[in-house]
Order: sequence, then C-alpha cells, then structure tokens
Amino acid sequence: MSAGRAVIGLPDFPWDRLTPYKELAQSHPDGIVDLSVGTPVDPVPPVVRQALADASDSPGYPLTYGTERLRGAAAGWLRRRHGVDLDPANVLPLIGSKEFVAWLPTLLGIGSGQRVIFPELAYPTYDVGARLAGAQPYATDGLLALGPEQVPLVWVNSPSNPTGKVLPAEHLRKVVSWARERGAIVASDECYIELGWEEQPVSVLHPDVCGGSHEGLLAVHSLSKRSNLAGYRAGFVAGDPVLIQRLLEVRKHAGMIVPAPVQAAMAVALDDDGHAEEQRARYAARRAALRPALEAAGWEIEHSTAGLYLWATDGTDCWTQVQGLARRGILVAPGDFYGKAGGEYIRIAMTASDERISAAVRRLQ
Ligand SMILES: Cc1ncc(COP(=O)(O)O)c(C=O)c1O
Repeated sequence: MSAGRAVIGLPDFPWDRLTPYKELAQSHPDGIVDLSVGTPVDPVPPVVRQALADASDSPGYPLTYGTERLRGAAAGWLRRRHGVDLDPANVLPLIGSKEFVAWLPTLLGIGSGQRVIFPELAYPTYDVGARLAGAQPYATDGLLALGPEQVPLVWVNSPSNPTGKVLPAEHLRKVVSWARERGAIVASDECYIELGWEEQPVSVLHPDVCGGSHEGLLAVHSLSKRSNLAGYRAGFVAGDPVLIQRLLEVRKHAGMIVPAPVQAAMAVALDDDGHAEEQRARYAARRAALRPALEAAGWEIEHSTAGLYLWATDGTDCWTQVQGLARRGILVAPGDFYGKAGGEYIRIAMTASDERISAAVRRLQ
C-alpha cells in the first residue's frame, strides 16, 4: 500500500488482482471474451454524437447547475419513463454518477464518527465515498439492526450491481420511512433502472415509494448504460429541493461542472427513447444467449431479474470459478470484489459484442 493510500485508508484497487486471469484468458487461441467490467461496447447513438458536435464551439464556462434544457429533459424522462413528477429545478448534472457516489458524503459534510450505510453486496464506490469523507463505511442489509443510532446517509441500489436484484416499492417505502424517522438521507443509485427484465424497477422518487414528497431523497441516474455514454461522463441527481440546492452550492465552489457539449448531448439522449430501446434489445438478446449457456455448464443464476449482469455460482470459491472460465478464455469478475457475501459467486457482464457473446456461449458448451 502506498503512503498516499494509507493516509485516507482506501482499499487496494481490486481489479489489479484480476490481471493474471486476464492474461490467461487472452492466451486463448480465439482471443479473450471479457465479461468482467460493465463498460459499454456498442456505438454512441448518432443523434447524440451530432448534438455533441453541434455544441463543440463552447468557449465559455458552463453552469454547474446545467442548462434549463438539460434539467427539463431529465425531468421529462423521469416523468415519461418512470412516473416521477419533479420540478426541473430539482435536477443537478453530474460528471458521471461515480464521482457523485464517491463524493456525496463529503459534499454533505458527513465525517468522523458517522456511519454511511450501503448494501452488503455493493458497488465498491459507496465504501470509498465514506472513507474519503473520513466517515465509517458500513455494509448491511438489515437497517433494523442499527437500533436507534442516528445515521446521516443510506445508499440503496436497485437494480443492484452486482446481483441484479430489484427492490420492490414496498421495500423501498420501508427504507424511506425508516430514514425519515431518523432524519437520514436516502440516496438511491438507479443507474440500471431502464434494464428491467423479469421485474420492473421503481424509482425512490415514485409516489408509491415516497408518498409524493421528495424530502430527504436523492435519486442518482447515469446515461452510461442507457445511452452508451460512459465515455462522455454523463449523469444527474434529482430529488429533495433543499438538498439539491445545498449540493449545487458546494459543487459550484469545487468546480464539479459537466462540459457544455456533454450537457447538450445528454439533453438529446434523454429526450430520445428510440436508441435506448435498441440498446435494451441488444442486452436482452445477449442475456438470452448467456444465461442458458451458463446454466447448462453448471452455474446457478441468482437474482439477475434486472440490470446489466448475471450473478452466478457453481458452489465453489469465486476465484476457482474465475480461473476455470479464464482457461476457456472468458474473463468474469469474482463476487468477493463486492463484499464477503460474494465469496462463492461470479458476476458476468453483458457488455461484449454479439460476436464475443457467441464465442462465450460456444466455449461454455
Ligand atoms: C451501481 C453503480 N453506480 C454507479 C456507477 C457509475 O456509473 P457512471 O459513473 O458511468 O455514471 C456504476 C458503474 O458501473 C455502477 O455500477
């Protein structure tokens, strides 16, 4: 561990541990099928690229708050696609949602002696965000076990990375009322919300969950997966008007500004559902090919009713599974990257070309 890491107590970057297995998979005569990282591989939709190009003459500073056009498009998308009624004033653009996950506790002034709560199996950046703020990361799925403790922030993530589990409205409603009783903020990471397969995810801002009030709630959205914009760094947060204004103030001071051409591209992407449907259909087809192939090869798929991943186990240690698949030229992520409870699971991302997915299916036979 370097001295810099030791000072703020960050974990080692886990992906480095996968390198030997990546090399093993790369040595396959027909090349690697990399299903380890959820990075989009399909093209950026032409309408979005055009919007970016049209806005490329942007010499001045953009607003941290974003353009009215962008905030309106985000609110319109939430209403149209997710049944959320929200004033566009309560939207704030993000430089991708990862920066927000990593900095939210700090931006809220959470610190030493306070616990930031997130799921037992989770995207590692919730933990990182707590540590960056000097707060205590706490992974639990059992809020009731916390007793009367006052906690400042609870993260939920539905559909989940890594498990693809969906939290039904009733579950989310309980989390919201638990948090409201204690004055805790609920931050809901909804970056996979458009990828419902056997179940339809619901936003924390939906009236069935929040009872029509967004007080204490933040919904975090990303265009990375819906619109293949991971390379643009494009997301937004929406919710409680007071929290949004507080976050805006700090983000203005900190220079957390989305570039103007990216803002223009985001607005067009959020207005257009056609490209998102096409992308969904690509993932649905890859999922329909991979899932039975894994099952026939001895894996059991758990959860995975929504999202970008299959969460699977053959009952052995996750690294044994990673190695076995790497020998067949397929690279997947070990479940223990996401928490101790993932020790016997692997996460398979559906982000590879159709040709590479077909290669994986053949290799699993
Ligand atoms: C659960 C979750 N949240 C947030 C992100 C960050 O996405 P982005 O920064 O591309 O918006 C990811 C990325 O994979 C994720 O899985």
